[in-house]
Formats: sequence, C-alpha cells, structure tokens
Amino acid sequence: MSPSSVQRDWWRRHWDRHSRTYDRQMGFMDRVLFRDNRGWVCGQATGEVLEVAIGTGLNLPHYPAGVALTGIELSPAMLEIAHRRAGELSRRVYLRLGDAEALEFLDASFDAVVCTFSLCAIPDHERALTEMIRVLRPGGRLLLADHVASSNPVLRTGQRLLELATIPIGGEHFLRRPIERVRAAGFDIERHDRFALGIVERLTARKPASGSKEPA
Ligand SMILES: C[S@@+](CC[C@H](N)C(=O)[O-])C[C@H]1O[C@@H](n2cnc3c(N)ncnc32)[C@H](O)[C@@H]1O
Repeated sequence: MSPSSVQRDWWRRHWDRHSRTYDRQMGFMDRVLFRDNRGWVCGQATGEVLEVAIGTGLNLPHYPAGVALTGIELSPAMLEIAHRRAGELSRRVYLRLGDAEALEFLDASFDAVVCTFSLCAIPDHERALTEMIRVLRPGGRLLLADHVASSNPVLRTGQRLLELATIPIGGEHFLRRPIERVRAAGFDIERHDRFALGIVERLTARKPASGSKEPA
C-alpha cells in the first residue's frame, strides 16, 4: 500500500466514524457561521453538476429541480446518509464513492462543479482543485464555499495555533484560500463574498472558454 492510500484509508475511517454526528454539528455551524451559503452556491448550479465530497448530502435540498447531479464522496458512511436524504427528498442523484484528488471522470464532463466545506478537509486540496478544473467544461462554473484564512492577522495567528491540533486530529485546515488557485488557473471570478472577519469565503468562477492558463 502506498503512503497516500494509507492516509486516504485513515481519513475514510475518520469520516465514517463522524458520519452519525455530522449533521447535528454542521447544522450548528450553518446557523451560526456559514449562513445561507448552501442556497447561494447550489442555486447557481445548472445543467450537469458534480458535487465533490458531498458528505451526507446537506446541499441536496438547495439544488434547482432541473439539475442533473452527480456526487462523489470518500466515506461510505457519509454517502449512505446522502443516499437516504436523496430518497427522502425524492431527488434523483447519482452518488458514488470517489477520491476528490483523482476524479474518475473524463475531462470537460460537467457544466458546474460544486464543493462546500470540504477543501478544508481534503488532504491535498490543490490537487483536488486541479481535478475539479479538469472535469469542468470550458465556460463551466466552479462554485465554492468554505472557511479560509482570516483577513484579520490576529485571528490568522489563532487559526495557525488551532491547526496544530486540528490537522492531526481531524484533518481540518484553517489557513487555505482556494480562490488563489482558481485565479491562477485563469478563471473569471464572477461573484465573490468574504465575511465573518474574512473566515468564510464563497465564489462563483467561470472556466475560460478556450484553453486555460493553467500554471505548470
Ligand atoms: C466537512 S465535510 C463536508 C461535507 C459536505 N460537502 C458539506 O458541505 O456538508 C468534508 C467531507 O469531505 C470528504 N472528503 C475528505 N477527503 C476526501 C477526498 N479525498 N475525496 C472525497 N471526499 C473527501 C469527507 O469524507 C467529508 O464527507
């Protein structure tokens, strides 16, 4: 087994263990910090949509009816809850196990790619972003929301200290800024909000229509 697959299995088991309490904990965070992000992100998704690291499917109620949704997730236990939720909502969605760092889809397969509150948890988030960019069609939209490095230097120091515990214990990163990678890929940032002392950031970015300015 390679070191990366050992690491992946470890995190899979971690999320399996947390699946039963996830909705309650995340429901609290949605209410106090993340606010209307799920509706904001999913409401902009159209056509064939991929949600990366879909978790327990908390975004499912927020997608417009016409969307053809595929969701991938590392943890079978999280995905099982997403399946149940899709059934309860009578929502047709193609759910499968997968690794955000190695998506099993052809290039340019989707009109939109959604990822919420997972780029903080995916071990190699830059690789995951590269994969999201790859599977997006030219002109397609990347829709992201997450907690990120604060715009406040004092708070950022606190986040740096917090990470000393949260990365080894829960794989949770606090100092990432996915928007930088998205900009570097030549995407046009169409909508962008940052709030709660710059800790929460959401964006809509369009993939260049012809060729991308991917860095080497
Ligand atoms: C904080 S939860 C967010 C879940 C969901 N996106 C939401 O908004 O509620 C992070 C999720 O990322 C998933 N995850 C972590 N690493 C992953 C990977 N490499 N590939 C796919 N999913 C991954 C975890 O299993 C977990 O379900």
